[in-house]
Amino acid sequence: MQQPKDLLSAEHLTKIFDIRQGFSSKAFHAVDDANFQLVTGKPEIFSIAGESGSGKSTLAKMILGMELPSLGQLTYKGKPIANLSKKEKRSWFYSEVQPVFQDPFAAFSPLKRIDHYLFETVANYKVVRRSEADKYINGVLEEVGLSIAEVKGRYPNELSGGQAQRVAIARALITKPSLIVADEPVSMLDASLRMSIVNMFRKLKEENGVTIIYITHDLATAYYSADRIAVMLRGWIVEMGPVEKVLGNPMHPYTQNLKDSIPQADPDKVWDKTTNLAEMEADEYTRKGCRFAGRCPAVMDKCKTQEPPSFQHDGRAVKCFLYEDAVA
Ligand SMILES: Nc1ncnc2c1ncn2[C@@H]1O[C@H](COP(=O)(O)OP(=O)(O)O)[C@@H](O)[C@H]1O
Ligand SMILES: [Mg+2]
Repeated sequence: MQQPKDLLSAEHLTKIFDIRQGFSSKAFHAVDDANFQLVTGKPEIFSIAGESGSGKSTLAKMILGMELPSLGQLTYKGKPIANLSKKEKRSWFYSEVQPVFQDPFAAFSPLKRIDHYLFETVANYKVVRRSEADKYINGVLEEVGLSIAEVKGRYPNELSGGQAQRVAIARALITKPSLIVADEPVSMLDASLRMSIVNMFRKLKEENGVTIIYITHDLATAYYSADRIAVMLRGWIVEMGPVEKVLGNPMHPYTQNLKDSIPQADPDKVWDKTTNLAEMEADEYTRKGCRFAGRCPAVMDKCKTQEPPSFQHDGRAVKCFLYEDAVA
């Protein structure tokens, strides 16, 4: 059988939630018409970036089969993720697609020794025989810069955040996945450790051929590590392309704004300190026209009433009327 061309493909992928407003509720598109492809046999780091409340985690959860799409298609190796049976998920999908989450300690019980999880995963997926488990686990720990001697018999609270995240990544590597979905994997770590984790992703891509979806609100680590980037704003992918294009020369006013706010300690709060964030988020998600119109320095009249389409401009897609006259 021919290998499907796309490792992962999202077409018009949409997730609709309800926002509660007082006593009534209103539907909104937390992820709205997302389109992108990751190609089989072409490992890359694909970053999904944007401030908090832009739909990044919702997108990640759909890819991981934890949320069902409301509309559109999401396939892994040609198969719709939402239609996989429990058995297919367990025996196939979750051995190929592995998550890494923000809080490295959340995945581990404080009462269990951390190596327990590694042995358990090896046993669950029958990766190697019991007698070879030690050696195998040491191998995956070495991939993340640790050794079994450093973790064996230790409880989660005896590890640093950086070490715990490395163990979480080692655990994700046990099944030799093709795709790792890492949702804000470094945002709880000290700035000094972030680059080392991101470097490890690069190494895993280059040496192990793993494709990584790297979700972050930190453009510096995305710029440093990613091959391509999709910038999200309130459910929309507003700019997508090679990272050196999109972050080297951002075209969407939102990407420009995000990039300028890199030095800020809290990139989620730089816009307007007087605005209630949740309120602003709900307003932007449900407003007419462009969702950035309310804070865009280049806003035009039509932005307030019409949704901008995506235009191809200078090697990337950009969802903004400023580029309407550019060649499609
Ligand atoms: N299960 C849910 N039910 C209703 N709204 C949700 C749910 N999950 C997320 N949301 C809302 O969807 C929007 C996007 O959230 P999320 O995907 O977590 O964004 P991000 O990861 O970019 O911060 C937010 O407004 C959030 O409050
Ligand atoms: Mg999130």
